[in-house]
Amino acid sequence: MANLVTNDPLVLKNRSFRRFHQEVPVELETLRELVDLARLSASAENLQPLKYILSCDPQENELVFPHLGWAGYLADWPGPDEGERPSAYIIIVGDTELAKNVDCDHGIAAQSILLGATERGLGGCIIDPMRRQRLHEILDIHSRYEILLVIALGKPKETVVIEAVGTDGDIRYWRDGKDIHHVPKRTLKDIIL
Ligand SMILES: Cc1cc2nc3c(=O)[nH]c(=O)nc-3n(C[C@H](O)[C@H](O)[C@H](O)COP(=O)(O)O)c2cc1C
Repeated sequence: MANLVTNDPLVLKNRSFRRFHQEVPVELETLRELVDLARLSASAENLQPLKYILSCDPQENELVFPHLGWAGYLADWPGPDEGERPSAYIIIVGDTELAKNVDCDHGIAAQSILLGATERGLGGCIIDPMRRQRLHEILDIHSRYEILLVIALGKPKETVVIEAVGTDGDIRYWRDGKDIHHVPKRTLKDIIL
């Protein structure tokens, strides 16, 4: 992320990265530390219904990858090539025996995980898996757990920049000729009513 300096706020440095140095491992202990941050995050009625499945083993990662959808607005890009894929995943599931429906706990947990990853020089992307049922089966997850989100993690291998949404209102992210990923964000003026 050549565009950001070290004292930028963590939230600014924490972009969605989709290409990684796949050869750089993310250790199981790191994943456990990140889940520990999620564990301390807010939870509706303090029910804490979230559970986590960790994967940092290349063979297990290969099982997860085909069930994810990448950057829907980049129509010509099918997702990261072999060598640029995530080194790890944290799969957030809801324990239906603790709460029938999970409201937004998983979004908060995902952000805690990604901020912790950013602090550690890692990066990632929240993925709403395309083929939840298949992923459930492939990973042999018990039926009491509902897959909510997948967090892809690794050492980022791309530059992501933020820019203001233009007058045309287009919020679609895009990549330029130098392969820099641009993310339009609405301005403060446009969002404070
Ligand atoms: C709930 C949620 C689901 C998302 N699902 C996907 C996804 O399936 N695939 C993907 O490539 N990005 C996904 N994203 C990442 C968004 O595309 C990304 O947050 C957005 O483009 C803004 O970029 P930024 O995170 O760098 O601000 C998801 C983000 C959220 C919050």
